[in-house]
Amino acid sequence: MSERPKLMQVLASEALNPPPLWIMRQAGRYLPEYKETRKQAGSFLDLCFTPELAAEVTLQPIRRFDFDAAILFSDILVVPHVLGQKVAFEEGQGPSLDPIGDDIDRLDLAALEYQLVPIYETVRLVRTSLAPEKALIGFCGAPWTVATYMIAGRGGDDQLPARKLALKNPEKFQQLIDVLVDASASYLIGQIKAGADTVKIFDSWAGVLDEEGFQRWCIRPIKAIAERVRAALPDTPMIAFPRGAGARLKTFAAATGVDAVAIDWMTPMQIARELVPAPTVLQGNLDPLRLAAGGKALDDGVDDILAAMRGRAHIFNLGHGITPDTPIRHVEQLVARVRRGGI
Ligand code: CP3
Repeated sequence: MSERPKLMQVLASEALNPPPLWIMRQAGRYLPEYKETRKQAGSFLDLCFTPELAAEVTLQPIRRFDFDAAILFSDILVVPHVLGQKVAFEEGQGPSLDPIGDDIDRLDLAALEYQLVPIYETVRLVRTSLAPEKALIGFCGAPWTVATYMIAGRGGDDQLPARKLALKNPEKFQQLIDVLVDASASYLIGQIKAGADTVKIFDSWAGVLDEEGFQRWCIRPIKAIAERVRAALPDTPMIAFPRGAGARLKTFAAATGVDAVAIDWMTPMQIARELVPAPTVLQGNLDPLRLAAGGKALDDGVDDILAAMRGRAHIFNLGHGITPDTPIRHVEQLVARVRRGGI
């Protein structure tokens, strides 16, 4: 049997039945073993920056569910943290940052690579322990999404503070995006060199942008990152998640040139399939609430996606992150259903 990870076969645009499977936010609070390790680490950032513990939580969902891919345990807000912004993750409250306002000049790219060394070490540790037929996914936040947290200091209100700054002072906003493009490209290249097989760029707030904003703040920076990663490491496929892109998926896929597009649960897979032509790979897109609900809601959701994607290179996933209240047996039900090919 081939040891080439199924995920990598599909990222080379091969259609597999059943498709490879992993789930967004698969390491997290729905797992008792995650909560235990997080307690041991102290803070969330300590967990991200302690390679042995971060590697352990990266591997936990693979051990339990035999997913086809592990995703590095870290967070998209590690980048503002290493750029010098104060970032905290308070239990049950989501991230909070000291809002940066328009003081972009104080961000410091100089110490970036040095500070990211423990994360690259996590990647190395995971790759050593992970079976060769499993893929390891590295990731970063897209510049737009990371910028929205940096400016507001938190998520919510459709990221109004960042949208306002981008309209009132586009030059200033561009300066922040440029810093984030540099930092993110360098971070992804570091993860790939340390052993990540593929990388994913999360643009979780892409959907709140209007047409001009989507071109300028979502597509252009992701394209710039993809070009830099490809110039340094041409063989590494890239996945991007423009959440809320909807009808703009077509332009997004064509303009950024990423190898795979992750689809949110609001977009029917059949329509994504029509909008984004092969060889671009599609990932997605079960509503995380169907996974939390279980039963027939879960089975029907899985079957519909598998039917819509038959014959097309597809990675099964959720349309956004798993929620902490999801019972473990529902995840087991999902895995069994996908692996049986639906029926
Ligand atoms: O399995 C994995 O996916 C682990 C790695 C991972 C985390 N965050 C760990 C995490 C990844 C890939 C992310 C991505 C991330 N982080 C995104 C993009 C994907 C998405 O969900 O839209 C975003 C927007 C963030 C920012 C962020 N981090 C938020 C909004 C929150 C709070 C919400 C929540 O889920 O609690 C976090 C915290 C966070 N990041 C947790 C985990 C496991 C929970 C914190 C905890 O353990 O207390």
